[in-house]
Amino acid sequence: MTAETKVRAACLIGWPAAHSRSPLIHHYWLRTLEIEGGYSIEAIPPEGFAEFVLHLSTHGFVGANVTIPHKERALALSIPDGRARAVGAANTLWYEGGELRSTNTDIEGFINNLDACAPGWDGIEDALVLGAGGASRAVIFGLIERGIKRVHLANRTFDRARALADQFGASVHPVAWDGIAALLPRAGLLVNATSLGMHGQPALEVDTGLLPPHGVVADLVYVPLETPLLSAARARGLKIADGLGMLLHQAVRGFELWFGQRPEVTPELRALVEADLTEV
Ligand code: ATR
Repeated sequence: MTAETKVRAACLIGWPAAHSRSPLIHHYWLRTLEIEGGYSIEAIPPEGFAEFVLHLSTHGFVGANVTIPHKERALALSIPDGRARAVGAANTLWYEGGELRSTNTDIEGFINNLDACAPGWDGIEDALVLGAGGASRAVIFGLIERGIKRVHLANRTFDRARALADQFGASVHPVAWDGIAALLPRAGLLVNATSLGMHGQPALEVDTGLLPPHGVVADLVYVPLETPLLSAARARGLKIADGLGMLLHQAVRGFELWFGQRPEVTPELRALVEADLTEV
């Protein structure tokens, strides 16, 4: 896209250029909502990122998604909202009153997907989150914002769980990795925010049979679409929320900010992205 192009366009900024489902998602919404617009992938190396973002509109864009390795710098180069600040990373940029603003949509992606897959899930008192990286930070913020009383946070490296819990305050309790089983019977929600279960990684060894009957299991991994953890939970009749659902729901806000209409996560969109994922 160039500055002369009239069509509203957004892009995904990353490095190196990776295969992403974001163009598929946004092109689907542009098509079905009959909006004339564009969405491209822009491979921008770290040394060119500041120039690109600070002149995003000159480059022809009304906004952008930002991915690895630029999310922290995107936050620093824009006016972040409370969510981007809480996560410490921005993944969505847009202009408001001529100023470049940012947010982090992983939080609403996670929460809105849970609402769609397991309505009423938030009646729980205890949630158990596994993993203490960036993804986990978004999950924890969303759970606290939603008013979940106690969030237990387990991580292989306990010090990371403790450090993250310290940042969130009294409702987040760090747990040692070998303390997971003891917590499962009262975990109304179990969230895998580790990379375990991802294609090429070992499975997450957690006995979903220990969860309460009303328990809900969410996995942020979406390759494979159904992780061994989710398959086991489904087989036990538990409600599940998968990583693809979160990916689709986190894309909604950016589209709305750039193109002015709030799109829907439809079964047709999901099927389209599923087909693309299984091709790979
Ligand atoms: P992200 O930003 O996507 O959350 P990350 O910061 O690399 O990614 O975090 C990956 C998470 O998966 C971490 O919680 C990591 O645990 P450590 O903090 O102990 O590294 C977790 N993880 C990765 N491999 C694991 C394994 N084999 N067993 C248990 N946890 C693992």
